Amino acid sequence: MALKERVQDLLAQVNDMKAANAEELEALRIKYLSKKGEITTLFTEFRTVPNEEKRELGQLLNQLRQQAEGRINEMREQIVNSQELLAKSQLDLTRTPDPIDLGTRHPLSLVREEIVDIFSRIGFTVAEGPEVEDDKHVYGMLNFAPEHPARDMQDTFFIEKEIGIQKPTDVLLRSHTSSVQTRVMTSQKPPIRVLCPGRVYRNEAISARAHCFFHQVEGLYIDKNVSFADLKEALLYFAKEMFGPETQIRLRPSYFPFTEPSAEMDISCNICGGKGCAFCKGTGWVEILGCGMVDPNVLEACGIDSKVYSGYAFGMGVERIANLKYRVKDLRLFSENDVRFLRQFESC
Ligand code: DAH
Repeated sequence: MALKERVQDLLAQVNDMKAANAEELEALRIKYLSKKGEITTLFTEFRTVPNEEKRELGQLLNQLRQQAEGRINEMREQIVNSQELLAKSQLDLTRTPDPIDLGTRHPLSLVREEIVDIFSRIGFTVAEGPEVEDDKHVYGMLNFAPEHPARDMQDTFFIEKEIGIQKPTDVLLRSHTSSVQTRVMTSQKPPIRVLCPGRVYRNEAISARAHCFFHQVEGLYIDKNVSFADLKEALLYFAKEMFGPETQIRLRPSYFPFTEPSAEMDISCNICGGKGCAFCKGTGWVEILGCGMVDPNVLEACGIDSKVYSGYAFGMGVERIANLKYRVKDLRLFSENDVRFLRQFESC
């Protein structure tokens, strides 16, 4: 092929050059412009061209070299720019293309939210209080006698040395959410209608049936003329909403220092439908909460006139309700965070 044609052929090649990265670009530069590159070789051969052809061919050759250099510089710039852009964009190209695993809601959160939702439909709002409490709010104002065994070290975690308090200490981890009652009653005026969900602590050995912390939801309603019948009606409504319309309740007399009269509420066993099974120990009933009419002493201790106002209160364990709903036999599963357990609540 004559030199002129080879130059034209190379011109076409040079115009068509493409490089996806710096390595490919360098290979092109070597192919055409290095010492032994095709364009450089043509310049060597140019010396042997007859003088009358030199002018035209020389111009063509220069054009070829300029075009090749220009095109390579242009591509170099493009590659550098795109690398900078990538570095700035914080795109992580090493990440797997799989979508991020979404977490699931914890069964105790699901149950707590359902309880709150059911009571919010009859006018209850949520109130919260501190987990690190004082004796006054957890026991004193709730009519616990000074020597009441619930204060005993076996039940209550007292906070002592860490914050430099000498015995007898006044600071403790709340052992029930009833403490939020006293906080609400001393800061709000009746009518009061609150639900107090939260974590509570007791000094118990950890086993399948007991834990040193668990969760409760407390309810409190104070107004003029609140009666035990109102309490029963609210609790029956709750039981049917939570466990199904066929659910029955029964109230057994009981004792709590802060309510008078007091009761414990059972629901018909939702596992055997009341026929009797291992879960309800053959009785057809399972206990789910404590309740009663707020003791006038408690109202007075919180600055509420017990001659004008009356109220009811109730408290239930969230784990207990979750147990009944989801049949979780071992309490420890709730706090171990084993994903094999937690994943089972994905669709709830
Ligand atoms: N505080 C009680 C407990 O932890 C539960 C309870 C019972 C709360 C009766 C109440 C109530 O408000 O009226 O065992």
